[in-house]
Amino acid sequence: MVKIAVMVSGGGTNLQALIDAERRGELKNGELSAVISSNADAYALKRANRAFIPSYVLRRHDFGSTEAYGQALAEMLEQLDIGLVVLAGFMTVLSSDFCRRFEGRIMNIHPSLIPSFCGPGFYGLHVHEAALAKGVKVTGATVHFVSEVVDGGAIILQKAVAVQQDDTPEVLQKRVMQEAEWKLLPHAVSLFCEGRLQIEGERVKIL
Ligand code: GRF
Repeated sequence: MVKIAVMVSGGGTNLQALIDAERRGELKNGELSAVISSNADAYALKRANRAFIPSYVLRRHDFGSTEAYGQALAEMLEQLDIGLVVLAGFMTVLSSDFCRRFEGRIMNIHPSLIPSFCGPGFYGLHVHEAALAKGVKVTGATVHFVSEVVDGGAIILQKAVAVQQDDTPEVLQKRVMQEAEWKLLPHAVSLFCEGRLQIEGERVKIL
């Protein structure tokens, strides 16, 4: 079994999608083993407790630098024998050292079709505001491996979602979550745990 750590900062609906998928037996060869939050008040921690998943709080401002934070996080993950790190609404930027140490073992979910509306500043509602401002007719979500470049790692799965004429950022965010994020993330995690994701340079091959 691959031990999975889910990193969160807020509501944790993507964590919930993973918990529900595990209960349905859809995380093949994977086990949700830890939830780590950068925020002690995150609702995601309640979801973890309800599902009896051990949870931990590691706050960025308790550390002097991004590097020190990454070091502490890496030590925690190694102690827990974690094989896959899933960033699910994790709002803290990770150090380059951390990204290199866990290369090929960290994935992130982003609420747009990368390479659109991604990179520094594109998080939360800002992503959907930008998509609506541009007038795109289709947006979606992307699960990708994490590299040192923000939102720049190899793409694992993507799913398109239609934009409706009278969408607000909030309405669009909800649709992207329901139709894309909550389905894509458990699927990508399961593929990883089954050993079916092969990274070939910029690309991910699904075996
Ligand atoms: C999601 O939109 C995810 O794509 C982004 O942050 C949001 C997290 O939401 N990275 P939740 O905490 O999983 O509800």
